Amino acid sequence: MSAVASTIPAQSMKIAKVKEHIGAIVTGIDLAQPIDAATQKELYDAALENVVLVIRGQAHITPAQLQTAGEMFGELMEDQNRRYLVDGFPLISVLDNRHKDSKGQPAKVGANATWHTDHTNQELPPKFTMLYAVAVPDKGGATSVCNARAAYEALPNDIKLKIADVKTENTLISSARMKIGNPDVVKAQLEAKKPPTVHPLVRTHPETGTKAVWFHKSKTETVTGMSPEETQDFLQDLTDKVTQPQFCYAHEYKPGDLLIIDDRASLHKAPSDYDQNQHRRLYRLLVRGDRPY
Ligand SMILES: [Fe+2]
Repeated sequence: MSAVASTIPAQSMKIAKVKEHIGAIVTGIDLAQPIDAATQKELYDAALENVVLVIRGQAHITPAQLQTAGEMFGELMEDQNRRYLVDGFPLISVLDNRHKDSKGQPAKVGANATWHTDHTNQELPPKFTMLYAVAVPDKGGATSVCNARAAYEALPNDIKLKIADVKTENTLISSARMKIGNPDVVKAQLEAKKPPTVHPLVRTHPETGTKAVWFHKSKTETVTGMSPEETQDFLQDLTDKVTQPQFCYAHEYKPGDLLIIDDRASLHKAPSDYDQNQHRRLYRLLVRGDRPY
């Protein structure tokens, strides 16, 4: 063992809860070093319990080490947006406020960002989304995450009954949002021959058995019995009920923070509150998930 390695205690990890319903911060771990199986299990369980886990202080790790860290949580899957990837790492995609769409406009317009869970247009959406901060603005730029399991449990019974068997039809972008959407996404959807992917609005977590409200507002073409426009209004109303402050946590990044979000029990949202002249760059990894039920 080298002198440097011997100064890093193997078991100095601490996991501190942020608040009752959501969030935990992990310190005292170095993802450039091998992580033993017991520690890996502790991290995995903490991600499920707290819905979002933040591993601090990893600014020194390489993309290869980031990928290895991601693989602790399962098999990585490709991001469906293949436009922005880390060179040489097809499983690590890049979210960057300096990206342009094919018309030269900013590719992500924060003001259009809605609460969502990732890739709901796929049959097998990811079970975890991981976000790693490379460059962050001085102020703002947080990723917000909401515990959709606790929020579901807190819903009045009449709403739980009303949404119990509701299905969502998922596409790349809802026809009701095409006017304000990224033109490349709109074009891909208009050219897509694939029928919408049907998922339940209330999802059962395959590992914990708990239920959660689960949708991607921008990608939902319809919920059962509603037009695309009614669907957007209905999901906005449901979003307002679910994203109560006690269920949500907005993480303002420091470079080297790694967020691990359990997509099966949460909704998340990109920020629109920061100075767009400042650079915000995150790497994203997705862990393959199961068919929602
Ligand atoms: Fe997302």
